[in-house]
Amino acid sequence: MNAAANLSQHHPLDALMLFGFWYRAMPSAKLTPNRLDKITLLETPLVLGRDARGRPFALYDACPHRGMPLSYGRWDGTELECSYHGWKFEALSGQCRHIPSLTSDQPLKIDRIYAGSYACQDEDGYLWVFVPDPPPAGAGFTKAGEPPIPVPRVPTFGEKFKMAYLTADLPATVDHGIIGLMDPAHGPFVHRAWWWRTRKSIHQKQKDFEPIPLGFRMSAHTPSSNSAPYKLLRLYADTDSITTTIDFVLPNQRYETIRAGPYWFASLTTVTPVTRDRCRIDVVAKYNVFPWLPFGSRLLKFFFAKFLEQDRRTMEKQSEGLKYKPHLMLIDDADRPAKWYFQIKEAYLEAKRSGTAMRHPMTSAVRLQWRS
Ligand code: FES
Ligand SMILES: [Fe+2]
Repeated sequence: MNAAANLSQHHPLDALMLFGFWYRAMPSAKLTPNRLDKITLLETPLVLGRDARGRPFALYDACPHRGMPLSYGRWDGTELECSYHGWKFEALSGQCRHIPSLTSDQPLKIDRIYAGSYACQDEDGYLWVFVPDPPPAGAGFTKAGEPPIPVPRVPTFGEKFKMAYLTADLPATVDHGIIGLMDPAHGPFVHRAWWWRTRKSIHQKQKDFEPIPLGFRMSAHTPSSNSAPYKLLRLYADTDSITTTIDFVLPNQRYETIRAGPYWFASLTTVTPVTRDRCRIDVVAKYNVFPWLPFGSRLLKFFFAKFLEQDRRTMEKQSEGLKYKPHLMLIDDADRPAKWYFQIKEAYLEAKRSGTAMRHPMTSAVRLQWRS
């Protein structure tokens, strides 16, 4: 088998963004009643808001009449009035309620007109939006359907825990954002610090992987001695009792669970395509570590923010090279998770195209080895 795969072969442009999934739109607390927010998700312009009872809504940010962004409109807490000709839409459903230019004898059935409306839901401190496939038609009669899958959640292992989140914009395609996230070989070079690890700490590692629906799992293992979880958790527990499990699941989800006796730390990191060449990374963590440390949460957030900033800066520099569309290669074994990602994405798209069950590219457990 060819150990170095040509990345561009696995990189069809039109397959870059996966529709038909829930995506994190923004931190819930930032979306307050009485105001509108505009965002882009998968190159789709959205206007977001909350009604007086706090219920969120997401509408396609182009009026079904003549395309004026609804985010320029007037919002009264129930209805959104377009700034161009004053059509009014019920925000939660997108249904048209009023067209000022109609005379009483003009028979247009306005309740059959909808602004494009997207299912949305608050979960784990974020507002999630379901981006359907195919997208709601631009103009016309599109009531939002019920999403076929539930919103992803950060798992918990007890009643009492704290929660924190971090977010960063990356000047990278969602694919580069994701394979950057699952790449074990950059650690000693990008995340170098005196309190952490150095080039000298590089050593050989082996990890077992197994297929899971729409993704793969790095099976439960003791974190390597130069990794962050290990260094934090050995303060708590006998190091042999520490286990980490990492799952990657399409379209963009990385779950990491670390357990050490009664203590646990669970996170869900997502890489959300904003446009074809920009993405956003959001990490939400729930944990019961540091219960006795007054500034524990802040300390944890500080370290993670530093870590994420190192990744962000690296991808910013990488984008300078990528804009020339160079030939790239993925090598075994360190880039094998990245290869699986592209293969799983392709298998998913192929199953959708053909209407058949997805054929998972991994047929059994695999052991990978690399130095990092
Ligand atoms: S464009 Fe919105 S009412 Fe005409
Ligand atoms: Fe990193």
